[in-house]
Amino acid sequence: MIEVNRLVKKFKSGSKNVLALNEIDLKIDQGEFVLIKGPSGCGKSTLLFSLGGLQKPTDGEVCIAGENL
Ligand SMILES: Nc1ncnc2c1ncn2[C@@H]1O[C@H](COP(=O)(O)OP(=O)(O)O)[C@@H](O)[C@H]1O
Ligand SMILES: [Mg+2]
Repeated sequence: MIEVNRLVKKFKSGSKNVLALNEIDLKIDQGEFVLIKGPSGCGKSTLLFSLGGLQKPTDGEVCIAGENL
């Protein structure tokens, strides 16, 4: 249903480069219930924005129901 391959998101803020997502692989089947947890700043929101098509990843792919975003 949701498939993520080698997802990378980098941000540049000022002179600082932030690697928010470092080659994430993920597969979530239909009906599956998944929880994402981790400390503040670890990349949870960035991952969700990428899954929702709200933010273009730096690299890698997100497929929803077989369609590559
Ligand atoms: N728009 C942005 N510009 C620059 N850095 C960002 C931006 N969004 C997120 N980041 C950085 O990416 C990292 C992950 O942030 P985020 O996904 O918001 O973490 P979480 O949701 O797990 O708290 C953090 O270091 C954050 O500062
Ligand atoms: Mg967040």
